[in-house]
Amino acid sequence: MKVIISSDKTSGSKKGFAIFKNSIANGSKVIGLATGSTPVTLYQEWTESNLDNSNLISINLDEYVGLTPDNDQSYHYFMQKNLFAKKPFKHSYIPDGIKAIKDPEGTAADYNKIIAENPIDIQLLGLGQNGHIAFNEPGTPFDSVTHEVQLTENTIKANSRFFNNIDEVPKSAICMGIANIMSAKEIVIMAFGDNKAEAVQKMVEGPVTEEVPASILQKHENVTLIVDQAAASKL
Ligand code: GLP
Repeated sequence: MKVIISSDKTSGSKKGFAIFKNSIANGSKVIGLATGSTPVTLYQEWTESNLDNSNLISINLDEYVGLTPDNDQSYHYFMQKNLFAKKPFKHSYIPDGIKAIKDPEGTAADYNKIIAENPIDIQLLGLGQNGHIAFNEPGTPFDSVTHEVQLTENTIKANSRFFNNIDEVPKSAICMGIANIMSAKEIVIMAFGDNKAEAVQKMVEGPVTEEVPASILQKHENVTLIVDQAAASKL
């Protein structure tokens, strides 16, 4: 794993965006995207750039079960607001959180098919405070593919800051599995702030274990981790 320690989130995000830009210039067509607060600055760089997404396909990691695309906490809404409105892709895939209410398995199977038909060239990731990637919580099998995830209390609490109150946070999500993520040819994972320091340390230096989902990235041959000083403080 290549580790880049930046002075702050802004410069780290610029470096992250440069990797995507370069990869796209070199022919990457299928771009794996992430949500959360971590990638917002990178998406700002993207929207302000001259990059044209109209020949690219995007595939997002996950979506909450039960939120409509116009719900401002859905990941559909997030992507529209932060990237797609200004820089539309030829096609953008995000799991269908409404179909998933009645048919989580069918929704997950549809998504696995989409990923199989559109192998991901480069995937962006954030890191959960407990080492999760996407919504793959500790204990998720490394060979998992897209599935419905019951969110842990820790994640519900962490994500409640975006909702009016904690009861509004959905209890589950449809999420790419760890095997889907590992199938990307290249991965860029970013983490900023001291609340990520422990997860970063375990991901980079700890044993590869399903208890720290991100630790599997040690086994991927083309991963770049971008952190600020605070997130790197336990390395
Ligand atoms: C959520 C998302 C993840 C994200 C993580 C960290 O659970 N599903 O994709 O990486 O939170 O979020 P943040 O970037 O806001 O710290």
